[in-house]
Amino acid sequence: MKENCAPSVVNLRTRFPIVFWILLLLVVGSFIYFIYFVQPSGEFHNQQQIELRSMPTLDERINILIEEKQFLEEKMKAYEEEKKNVAKLIENERQFSLTMNEKIKWLEKVIENSEEQLLRRLEKEIKILEANATIHRDFFDYVFNVSRDTAYLGVEYYTRYTVARKGMLPLDGMEPLRPEFGPVINDVLSFQYPLTIPPCQDVTGVDRTVFLAVISGAGNFERRNVTRHLWPKHLKAEQDKGLLGVAGFAFILGKPDKNETQKLIEEESQMYGDIIQIEMVDTYRNLSLKVAALFNWLHTRNCSKVDFLFKVDDDVYVNVRNLAHFVQSQPRHDVNLTIFGNSAGNLWPARGGKWGLTYEEWPWGDFPRYFFGPGVLFPGNTIVPMLASFQTTPMLHIDDLYYSGICVERAGIKISYSTNSTGVFKMGFPEFPDPCDVRLVISWLTVSSNHKSNSLVVTEDFYNNRTRCVVAGANNGTNTTIDYTEPVHFYFLQ
Ligand SMILES: *[C@@H]1O[C@H](CO)[C@@H](O)[C@H](O)[C@H]1NC(C)=O
Ligand SMILES: *[C@@H]1O[C@H](CO)[C@@H](O)[C@H](O)[C@H]1NC(C)=O
Ligand SMILES: *[C@@H]1O[C@H](CO)[C@@H](O)[C@H](O)[C@H]1NC(C)=O
Ligand SMILES: *[C@@H]1O[C@H](CO)[C@@H](O)[C@H](O)[C@H]1NC(C)=O
Ligand SMILES: *[C@@H]1O[C@H](CO)[C@@H](O)[C@H](O)[C@H]1NC(C)=O
Ligand SMILES: *[C@@H]1O[C@H](CO)[C@@H](O)[C@H](O)[C@H]1NC(C)=O
Ligand SMILES: *[C@@H]1O[C@H](CO)[C@@H](O)[C@H](O)[C@H]1NC(C)=O
Ligand SMILES: *[C@@H]1O[C@H](CO)[C@@H](O)[C@H](O)[C@H]1NC(C)=O
Ligand SMILES: *[C@@H]1O[C@H](CO)[C@@H](O)[C@H](O)[C@H]1NC(C)=O
Ligand SMILES: *[C@@H]1O[C@H](CO)[C@@H](O)[C@H](O)[C@H]1NC(C)=O
Ligand SMILES: *[C@@H]1O[C@H](CO)[C@@H](O)[C@H](O)[C@H]1NC(C)=O
Repeated sequence: MKENCAPSVVNLRTRFPIVFWILLLLVVGSFIYFIYFVQPSGEFHNQQQIELRSMPTLDERINILIEEKQFLEEKMKAYEEEKKNVAKLIENERQFSLTMNEKIKWLEKVIENSEEQLLRRLEKEIKILEANATIHRDFFDYVFNVSRDTAYLGVEYYTRYTVARKGMLPLDGMEPLRPEFGPVINDVLSFQYPLTIPPCQDVTGVDRTVFLAVISGAGNFERRNVTRHLWPKHLKAEQDKGLLGVAGFAFILGKPDKNETQKLIEEESQMYGDIIQIEMVDTYRNLSLKVAALFNWLHTRNCSKVDFLFKVDDDVYVNVRNLAHFVQSQPRHDVNLTIFGNSAGNLWPARGGKWGLTYEEWPWGDFPRYFFGPGVLFPGNTIVPMLASFQTTPMLHIDDLYYSGICVERAGIKISYSTNSTGVFKMGFPEFPDPCDVRLVISWLTVSSNHKSNSLVVTEDFYNNRTRCVVAGANNGTNTTIDYTEPVHFYFLQ
């Protein structure tokens, strides 16, 4: 409110010379009065006589009065003018102080709010610091001194350790899918899908449905192109036989780093209508996130009611006949949650390279049992529990270890892995796979487009009785030809 005093200061400054002159006039006037009227008292009458003598005439007096009146009127006008100006000034000042008050009130509010925000941020930071302190005190000492290279202790310990290591905080306002799984730390329900396919279809005339999700790199145009012409065409054949209902088929992509690539993907999606794209950078280290995004898509698109989700990579060949057979052989609405795949084997953490895990990321010397990721079967009733587990378990970039090794434990899902030469997924098949191998598995890895095309040829030849699977008799030297129509029993261990 400094501005309030400014006008009076100005007034005083302009008035000061006037006061000065009035004082000077008074001093000079008194002096003259003293000289002329007080000192020579005898001359008073003379003065009076002179005044009497020079008395003005009536006309002159009227003129003087008129002049005085005009002068007064001018003074009056000036005064009125001045009064108006002052009123204006006062009004301006009033307005000014009103807006000032408003501004002050607003400022006070802003300060109050930012104080609250600051407090909240500080509280959060303190939480992070506390979490970090915990890790340094409890975990790192413990882990590096005691549990380094010892046995993995399960999802609870993994979560506590990783949450502290990364300073992760529970996400406020995020709806937990399964509150009993613990605090929500990953947002897996807000993914955007720039390209998508229709929600899951009700397939009539079949009693088992599958959703086929082919995980594909954004730039893998050739793999998708080759795949489209191969095993997916067998899906329709099985559906026509009433053995398998296809609730959905899609390639699952992230976003490429180049705009031109994205344009090609959009054209591809328009042409084939079989792409689900996730708004996320498509990198190897984002694979677990990509799987979570797939499960969220299925959850929000009516797909958790399918009998099975078959998740394969874009370099995998699928024996659709065996897929249909396996799905048919499973009890419907099994209350036990079980996923099916092939064991990754007895692996231990490498401390470098693409698949490596640092001691900080994974202090333990072993892994829980987990599947090789390129081909895994999920019953529909595991989709929501898996997603709930992704929501509450810190991500690890090795996606198959993450979902089939770590997350299943929290969701109470058992993993069943293939044995006795039968399999959900196999690797290491030759350029022209053996009909007996093809007969025993649901999917296998291919290493080239030719390998994939050959796989189709071998499969079609076998199931059309153009080639045969012959097995040697145990000891008696005779060979046995296997009837290709004979269903395969798939063996699993838990
Ligand atoms: C917490 O620790 C992590 C890793 O040690 C570090 O990256 C992060 O900056 C720390 N956060 C705070 C708030 O100190
Ligand atoms: C083990 O922990 C103790 C403190 O608890 C610390 O003094 C020591 O340096 C640690 N040893 C190693 C090898 O980290
Ligand atoms: C897709 O495959 C067809 C042959 O099946 C080939 O003519 C075409 O060039 C391929 N396109 C791409 C983009 O690889
Ligand atoms: C790519 O497209 C986005 C918007 O779609 C734009 O913001 C960006 O500048 C483009 N980048 C290049 C290199 O053209
Ligand atoms: C994906 O990975 C990149 C680099 O590895 C990272 O910057 C990004 O935040 C990750 N997440 C998403 C949603 O893209
Ligand atoms: C899911 O199915 C229900 C009925 O079963 C239907 O009302 C709903 O619209 C479907 N949602 C989507 C996204 O298709
Ligand atoms: C489900 O699990 C229980 C206990 O593990 C077992 O007794 C039961 O046979 C299982 N049911 C099916 C259908 O596999
Ligand atoms: C399956 O393999 C196990 C050993 O891994 C063996 O004990 C069992 O007899 C085999 N079962 C069949 C039906 O071949
Ligand atoms: C397959 O072919 C063999 C001879 O080439 C024949 O003996 C057999 O009956 C055929 N099997 C079926 C199911 O047609
Ligand atoms: C030879 O063994 C196989 C099983 O290993 C059997 O099916 C077949 O009958 C046997 N042949 C003779 C001649 O004993
Ligand atoms: C059985 O098959 C092997 C090749 O797999 C062949 O060498 C052998 O001669 C066959 N035996 C008979 C009795 O046909």
